[in-house]
Amino acid sequence: MIPYARQSISENDIDAVVKVLRSDFITQGPVVTQFERAVSHYCSSQYSIAVSNGTAALHLACLALGVSSDDIVWTSPNTFAASANCALYCGAEIDFVDIDPDTYNISVAALKIKLQWAEKNTCLPKVLIAVHFAGQCCEMKEIKALSERYGFKIIEDAAHALGGDYLDQKIGSCRYSDITIFSFHPAKMITSGEGGMLLTNVADLAASIELLATHGITKDSELMTLASHGDWYYQQLKLGFNYRITDFQAALGLSQLQRLDEFVKKRRQLVQYYNDKLAELPLTTPWQHPDSQSCWHLYVIRLDLDRIGKTRKEVFDQLRLSDIGVHVHYIPVHTQPYYQQLGFKWGDFPESENYYKEVLTLPLYVDLTESNIDYIIQKIREVI
Ligand SMILES: Cc1ncc(COP(=O)(O)O)c(C=O)c1O
Repeated sequence: MIPYARQSISENDIDAVVKVLRSDFITQGPVVTQFERAVSHYCSSQYSIAVSNGTAALHLACLALGVSSDDIVWTSPNTFAASANCALYCGAEIDFVDIDPDTYNISVAALKIKLQWAEKNTCLPKVLIAVHFAGQCCEMKEIKALSERYGFKIIEDAAHALGGDYLDQKIGSCRYSDITIFSFHPAKMITSGEGGMLLTNVADLAASIELLATHGITKDSELMTLASHGDWYYQQLKLGFNYRITDFQAALGLSQLQRLDEFVKKRRQLVQYYNDKLAELPLTTPWQHPDSQSCWHLYVIRLDLDRIGKTRKEVFDQLRLSDIGVHVHYIPVHTQPYYQQLGFKWGDFPESENYYKEVLTLPLYVDLTESNIDYIIQKIREVI
């Protein structure tokens, strides 16, 4: 099976992990800090905190921004469940903004309309989680302007988007947001096995995230509320979690980061190859907003099912029978049974639902070859 995504692990990556395993510190050692600094440097953010996964990063981002049971958080329905679940972990209410039919990210037009409605009904969101789907950045300048007008905070869910650019800056600069999060799951741009990171330019947010990621416990005497009992002393100041990443995971992430630009370049070449070869077929290849240069975590096409004369399921199943690991990103979150219990229903966000019915993710990863793509395209031609 040609998978839809796959990590690319080098001998250097393996050596970096083994080096940590042979050292004294395998949990919170020096490499975690090196990894954090390297990602901050790459993205030009001031602060970064590495954590156990992207979901933990989203949870901490919501907590650091003060999301609680009185609040409402908005995100895109076209995302993995974690982008919405994180608000529910904090006891907040979740709602969605429908997607743009070209970028498949949150539609700024739909956001404007929903904000006007929410202002009238006194139910504005405290936080908007902007998901950079497949690696393409949301229209952050416009979203930031709306956040200033309506007073909400912004988390960029950039789980897909490390290495992507927006208006000549790396995604993760937090120029248009309060916090950006990344995931280092093996399907993502770089991997640390499981892993995630939060980036911000706000010192207080960084301090709060750091505290919450380690049980709310500090050993910093400056932060303590009482005199120290001795060198063993620590204080728990907040209710936090154990969301720490290990040093050997950070070593893998740091080693992978050295190849990130090479990974992005390769993905962009493969996408160009796909786009050229698919141009004549009854389907839509991904569209790039002129402000954004995707890092191409995913390659999604939309099938023109009327012209093809088959269902998406038939196309999907036939390609799987040819050992092509096609996938579907995403089932709109609001249509999941858990979210339906919260009151959402099919029809609530039609653009994301129409998209879902037609979309297909084709394999894309760094070690995919042009001859793999030739095979995939030959099979797509046969099927459609
Ligand atoms: C958009 C998005 N956000 C968040 C996450 C959660 O990341 P992790 O799997 O590292 O918890 C994912 C993972 O697939 C994702 O795709």
